[in-house]
Amino acid sequence: MSGQRVLLIVGGGVAAYKALELVRLLRKAGVAVRPILTRAGAQFVTPLSLEALCEDKVYQDLFALTDDSGMGHIELSRSADLVVVAPATADLMAKAAAGLADDLASTTLLATDKPVLMAPAMNLRMWLHAATQANLATLKARGVLFVGPDEGAMACGEFGPGRLAEPPVIFEAFMAALAGPAARPLLGKRALVTAGPTVEPIDPVRLLTNRSSGKQGYAIAEALARLGADVTLVSGPTGLAAPPAVKRVQVETADQMLAACQAALPADVAVLTAAVADWKPAQTEGLKLKKGQTGAPTLQLVETPDILATLSKAGAQRPRLVVGFAAETNDLEANARAKLARKGCDWIIANDVSQAGVMGGDENTVNLITHEGAESWPMASKAEVARRLAERIVQALV
Ligand code: CTP
Repeated sequence: MSGQRVLLIVGGGVAAYKALELVRLLRKAGVAVRPILTRAGAQFVTPLSLEALCEDKVYQDLFALTDDSGMGHIELSRSADLVVVAPATADLMAKAAAGLADDLASTTLLATDKPVLMAPAMNLRMWLHAATQANLATLKARGVLFVGPDEGAMACGEFGPGRLAEPPVIFEAFMAALAGPAARPLLGKRALVTAGPTVEPIDPVRLLTNRSSGKQGYAIAEALARLGADVTLVSGPTGLAAPPAVKRVQVETADQMLAACQAALPADVAVLTAAVADWKPAQTEGLKLKKGQTGAPTLQLVETPDILATLSKAGAQRPRLVVGFAAETNDLEANARAKLARKGCDWIIANDVSQAGVMGGDENTVNLITHEGAESWPMASKAEVARRLAERIVQALV
């Protein structure tokens, strides 16, 4: 990244303070940051803090560009490899979509011939308003890149989409944008990944679950997103943070996981790594089971839906490539091949869990089983397995 130059437009919104953290990340990576602060932006962060962090002059006024250290707005708009707008307010998006040029930020956006990355932040009703959504579609159609907004609690007390993406996520999007489309062969492709365990309640306080950490699935979601895919990660409970630029849907039971997967369709590829409980209690008690005179209760179990088999047979909605995982301790290839046929998926990643430390660990030994053949991959970190699988997915889809 060192030597790259970014023009950062800071719009007016409570989230503007996060732009300072973004500057810190960019500067740490050796990126030169030239800031433009809008009049509204200056209500939230001071030119002094921006100037100190950027170690550059802060540009604020369209008609003050003639002082000796200044440059014309055309020159300014081209003085970087990329333009980042964070936070991109509804107003800045509307101006850019309409081609308005009534202040320095909007004039720069109209004049630039560089790629533009916007990180929107606004009240959720403003974000969901048809006008903003139309502006978003217009800007996307013109090639403007977007990161976020996130969903969550907002400064105005409401909850929903509209929060500025976290600075590390914007930073990641910035690096991807600089790398250009060649580094993101999965741009425009949708991926669905499941990860983690499921949790099947017995009563309000007891449950059936397993030891899956979710690490392999999270690494795969991250690797696919890094290559440009639009990734939905349907995750059971794990202690892991959502990977950058991945849409995470958190679920508990197998039934919820299936519903979330179906809601995420259509997808070009589905990679199902979740350790879905095979059985759930036939009924969930509404009240906590008490130790009575009747002795230990007998749990009646019923099968959960098989998400891999269901998606593999989803007819017109079937993802083009469906990848399942199989944890095996013996007869790895034969067992995995039988599973491939039984579930109707395209590939199985057969996980050798006979060695201690794979479950919950950071390394994995896997075999890729397809209808055509089998390959065994050397022991590698889960991140490396994910990267390798993502590359194979590119070969299959692109
Ligand atoms: N899977 C699923 N839904 C289930 C069960 C499993 O989607 N209800 C998926 C898992 O995400 C994984 C694959 O199916 O991709 C694993 O299949 P499964 O039959 O559960 O494998 P094992 O646990 O290895 O089963 P077995 O006991 O048959 O070895």
